[in-house]
Amino acid sequence: MLKDLIKDFIDEMKPKLINDRMFIMGGLGAFVVLFTSPFWLNFLFSLFTGDDVYERPKIALPTEYKECVSTRDYMRAEHMQLLDTWRDMAVREGKREYVDANGNKWDINLQNTCMSCHANKPDFCDTCHTSNSVDPYCWDCHVEPKGNQQ
Ligand code: HEC
Ligand code: HEC
Ligand code: HEC
Repeated sequence: MLKDLIKDFIDEMKPKLINDRMFIMGGLGAFVVLFTSPFWLNFLFSLFTGDDVYERPKIALPTEYKECVSTRDYMRAEHMQLLDTWRDMAVREGKREYVDANGNKWDINLQNTCMSCHANKPDFCDTCHTSNSVDPYCWDCHVEPKGNQQ
């Protein structure tokens, strides 16, 4: 008797359960497609344009110098941390000299050291920052290179 009742109940619910499951799977599928859309849209887009979607901005490197205070890859990825370190060394520890991995000595100074080589701030720092949507606030206080102020 009870057994029959349960069996009837299951028979009655089965189609509904399957429907629900399909509904949920469909919803999940749509979610996954939507959620990953930046990736495959980028991929589709790159098929049409034939190149990577992100292009490195063209920056003006100093012409009169060959080397930075560290390797180019390191500077590209870590210059913000290096500047932070420089600031702490100067302001907190009172150290004004930085010795790089090759034993070269540099004055710890954003304005006079970094910006004397990278005097073309608009075509170097700014171009790259603009294309990466960063806008360092340092220039509220620190002086930008002369002749390149906008
Ligand atoms: C509110 C003003 C202010 C802002 C904004 C500011 N600084 Fe400074 N910074 C100073 C002052 C003041 C000193 C100390 C100058 C000294 O003792 O020679 C200093 C010192 C430094 C130094 C070491 C000495 C020198 O003159 O370069 C570095 C490097 C530095 N700051 C980097 C930065 C960076 C990078 C930013 C942006 C992320 C920044 N600062 C933003 C005021 C500021
Ligand atoms: C003596 C001149 C000189 C000084 C001082 C200097 N740079 Fe450079 N910087 C260069 C040169 C030259 C390159 C290109 C290096 C290469 O091609 O290997 C460069 C490369 C870089 C890059 C990488 C650019 C890229 O290719 O993506 C960054 C970022 C950078 N410098 C920031 C700084 C900062 C910040 C400071 C101060 C802490 C600084 N530089 C001090 C000359 C200098
Ligand atoms: C190759 C591209 C590139 C060049 C050239 C470049 N930057 Fe940057 N910079 C970045 C990127 C990208 C960030 C953001 C990194 C992050 O948020 O982790 C950044 C962040 C910074 C920050 C930290 C700002 C913040 O609010 O966190 C400072 C300070 C800075 N850059 C200074 C400079 C200076 C000074 C120069 C020129 C001498 C320079 N950068 C050149 C790409 C560049």
